Parts: sequence; C-alpha cells; structure tokens
Amino acid sequence: MSFKQTANLLANNKNGINAIKQRASSWWSQVSMGPPDVILGVTEAFKRDTNPNKINLGVGAYRDDNGKPYLLPCVIKAEAQLKKKNLDKEYAPISGTAEFCKRSIELALGDGTEIVANGLNATIQGISGTGSLRVGAAFLNSFFPGNKIIYLPIPTWGNHTPLFKHSGLDVKSYKFYDPKTCGFDFQGALDDISKIPEKSIILLHACAHNPTGVDPNLEQWKELSQLIKKKNLFPYFDMAYQGFASGDINKDAQAVRLFVNDGHRIALAQSYAKNMGLYGERAGAFTITTDSKEEADRVMSQVKILIRAMYSNPPINGARIVSEILGDAQLRADWLKEVKGMADRIISMRTKLRDNLKKEGSTKNWEHITNQIGMFCFTGMTTPQVEKLTKEHSVFLTKDGRISMAGVTSKNVEYLAHAMHAVTK
Ligand SMILES: Cc1ncc(COP(=O)(O)O)c(C=O)c1O
Repeated sequence: MSFKQTANLLANNKNGINAIKQRASSWWSQVSMGPPDVILGVTEAFKRDTNPNKINLGVGAYRDDNGKPYLLPCVIKAEAQLKKKNLDKEYAPISGTAEFCKRSIELALGDGTEIVANGLNATIQGISGTGSLRVGAAFLNSFFPGNKIIYLPIPTWGNHTPLFKHSGLDVKSYKFYDPKTCGFDFQGALDDISKIPEKSIILLHACAHNPTGVDPNLEQWKELSQLIKKKNLFPYFDMAYQGFASGDINKDAQAVRLFVNDGHRIALAQSYAKNMGLYGERAGAFTITTDSKEEADRVMSQVKILIRAMYSNPPINGARIVSEILGDAQLRADWLKEVKGMADRIISMRTKLRDNLKKEGSTKNWEHITNQIGMFCFTGMTTPQVEKLTKEHSVFLTKDGRISMAGVTSKNVEYLAHAMHAVTK
C-alpha cells in the first residue's frame, strides 16, 4: 500500500469513528428499532418469492378477478364530472364539507333518518376510517363521562389497540370469536359483556368483522343491544365495510340502525376505502349522536377544537368524489351495483374455495369459509400450517391463518385449495 493510500485509509477511519461518536451523542441514540408492520412484511416476503404460482393473501385491499387493483367506474365518472367544475383547492372547513357529512351519516342511518332531521348528530369528515376512529377516540378521552376504558372484541383489527391507547384510553377486551367453530362465540360475548363495568365504552364492528369475517346475526345483535343498554355501556361502531360485506348497504348497516332505533346514543366511524375503492384518498366520517340539537352543537364545537390541533382540516379530493357519487342519482345507482359486484365476487370465491377443498378430498369442515363475510376469512389454520403453506406452496398470509378473500381469483382458487388441503390433512 502506498503512503497516500495508507493516509486515506486512516483519514476515512477517523471520519467513520467521528461519525459513530456523533451518533452516540445524537438526540435519537436512545431510539430502538421498531418491529416492521406485519402485513407489509407479508407483502415483502411475497415479492421476494420467485414461484410463478405464488399468491398474496395478506393485503386487505380489493382485487379484481385478474388480481389487479380495481378503480370503480363510478369513481372515474365522478372525477370527470368534478374536473368540469373547475373547483379550487381552498381549505375545507375543519369538519369537512356539510354536504359530505350529511351524505355520510344518511348512508349509515338511512335517508330521512330522524337523527339528521332533528339535528341530533355531530358529524365530521375524518381521514378515512382510521383518522375518524382516532378523532372519536380523542373526543371520548377528553369528554366521556364514564370509565375511560374501551372494550375491544378478541381478536380485533390490529390497529384498534394502538390507536385507542395512543388516544389515552385504556383498552380491555371481550370474547368474540370461537376457534372451535370458527364462528361467533355468542355466549362468551354475552358473559364477558355482562361483566363490563357500567358506563364503559364498547367497540363493535358494524359488519364484516376484521380479521375473522364473523358477524352476529340480527337476532344476536338484538340481544347484544339490550344487554349493552341494560349495562349502560356506550357503543362505538366501526363501520369500515358498509355494502362491501353483503353487497347491500342497508343490510350491512342493520346493526348500527338497530342500536339507534333501540334508543342508544352511539359513536360511529365510517370509511370509504373499501366500498368505493378510495383507499388512498382517505375519505371517512365520524359521528356522535346526541339527545338534542344544542348538545350536538356543543359536541361539534369540541370535536373541531381537537381536529384543529391534530391536522387542521381534512383532504378535499376523496370527499368530493364521495359527495359527487352519493349526490348524483345515476352515479349512486352505478355505485350500488359496483359495490355489490365486489361483494358478490368475494362471496363466489368463498364458495369456490370451499367446494375445491372438498374436491381435493378434504374431510375437514370448511363451512365457516362461506358462513363468514367480507374481505377476510379466518381459516382456522394453525401457525405451523400457515408456515408450511408459505414455505412449500408460496401462499402468503398472516400467521393467524387469516386470508384476504380479495386475493382469491378464479385462476388461483384451485391451486389455493390444493395447497390448503396439503397442509391441513
Ligand atoms: C375494522 C377496520 N376499521 C378501520 C379500518 C380503517 O381503514 P381506512 O383507514 O383505510 O379507512 C379498517 C381497514 O382495514 C378496518 O378493517
């Protein structure tokens, strides 16, 4: 090595050592590496796999029968109509536009609902379902007059616990899913809910429970409503899949409407990510129903103060698309057909998967695949079975055995059934 090379090497080493010293005294040296997001981890592993038959069943976004993202034709038309209006890009009001809010709560509770007619709702546009839930959590943490504890079903959407904890609420749970039947543990839920201290908050998935795809039936919802009333609990509905579950926006809203008709005051978070395919547009809504218009005004004033401090006001584009679709008779009719089309494709894949498992010779009971509803199916596969499915068949999913039905197509359903049978026989 020449003298110059040696000198350069020493200089580089010195710089490196200085950089390390600097890092050790940096503001953030105490920050440890956080774990990667579970779902993103599944997608990363999927991308690395070279098997041409590989399937990604981790991601919770709708795919068409070719496995491609789906832009709803009604959204394309709404965007074209909006373009012609040459709208400006001024800030939205803190709570979003009044039209978006009214259309959203009417979608949830039904046109002509007395709640809206009498001004008994404080509704704001949130940042899709997550942001709407988070605004609601902030409001409850500041103003809920009872226990600042929210009870979540076991299991629940992976983001519920961190979201509610982040808002300052305490998080506890109640039984919901029965692994023995891969169905709803009705008795377990009733037993646990009856032990929840009065004046606590209970989170309910309005339809298409994520991650299990298991929903109470109408009779069970009726009993739950009575019990929750008797216990004086405050129901917080998360409705991320209205229309996407059964294909019918009214049927999917039946639990929310039942509770309102039973006289509950509720909190409600809505999302247009799945039912309009507006994932990245972040359009959603949060509502509190109240005893009087005057109370709704007071609640609204405080929700707005919280939003102002968090993000000032919501994004405008997605909300404009939603208002355009819901406010235009033709586009609305198109949307109802298109959302039904998505739901029907998923429902038909459930039947095909179950039938193909039978054809493969599986003697296991796979009825729950068709009994469950919405984007996800909790297959009942164990973690070792999932690992085998991924390793030997390149089928990617979360370790809890949840598959996103949206990733199943008429082209891969036979392969999937073959692989599932191979690891479960
Ligand atoms: C149960 C549930 N709540 C809320 C959301 C929020 O979704 P987004 O913020 O994309 O609207 C989701 C999305 O997967 C969900 O499954």
